[in-house]
Amino acid sequence: MRTPLVAGNWKMHGSREQLGQLLGEVIAGVGPDTHVEVLVCPAFVYLQAAAGMVSGSPVRLGAQNVCDKPEGAYTGEIAPGMLKDIGCDFVLVGHSERRAIYGESDTLVAAKFEAARAAGLVPVLCVGETLAERDAGQTEAVVARQLGALLDVAGAAALAQAVLAYEPVWAIGTGRTASPGQAQDVHEFIRRSVAAKDAKIADSLRILYGGSVKPGNAAEIFSMPDVDGGLIGGASLKGEDFLAIINAA
Ligand code: PGA
Repeated sequence: MRTPLVAGNWKMHGSREQLGQLLGEVIAGVGPDTHVEVLVCPAFVYLQAAAGMVSGSPVRLGAQNVCDKPEGAYTGEIAPGMLKDIGCDFVLVGHSERRAIYGESDTLVAAKFEAARAAGLVPVLCVGETLAERDAGQTEAVVARQLGALLDVAGAAALAQAVLAYEPVWAIGTGRTASPGQAQDVHEFIRRSVAAKDAKIADSLRILYGGSVKPGNAAEIFSMPDVDGGLIGGASLKGEDFLAIINAA
């Protein structure tokens, strides 16, 4: 059985006070006996304060990005070991906003994934197609390319200690969610692609869906056999909505 994971990607939103309050609500709302793993990913500068708050609670902490190098003269970057040092367990790599706005290539994303793993972090690899790619029938080809870049470098064994997130770009922040069937099709494709390399790892790999998940649609999406939770943007910024989505898992 795969333990469901629900992750909040808080992006570049909130102030110290707002996020402190939000995190307090999440910690209070997630019971100690929850069967869902809950992860929050605030902006870098708030991670240390968040680490103090989540300590002793079941809520886990992750960053939204990381450097692909372990240390050195990389002005403005944050090393994976630094994230681990302050109490992060997870890190998002290859979010579509990093790929599209900041030009992160499949190769760079794979390097970040490996650097994160080397530091003992669990990377959450985000993959997904744009609307133009979906309309052109290229969804599987795009996801296969993004996943393949990692499998080429690291092999399927690298996925034993990792999480995947399928996030169709056209569904992120748009209010347009993939239908449960559309999500399941791609999740099943991802699991099958990993299984071709290693069936055991594919079976235990958690694949999250992300893209306009809300309290009203979460349960239906999470009920799909290959959907193991969600990566939640907008709706994770409201304690009540995020908790409702966690409960739906
Ligand atoms: P959304 O964002 O839930 O606001 O669509 C998801 C994400 O970007 O991870």
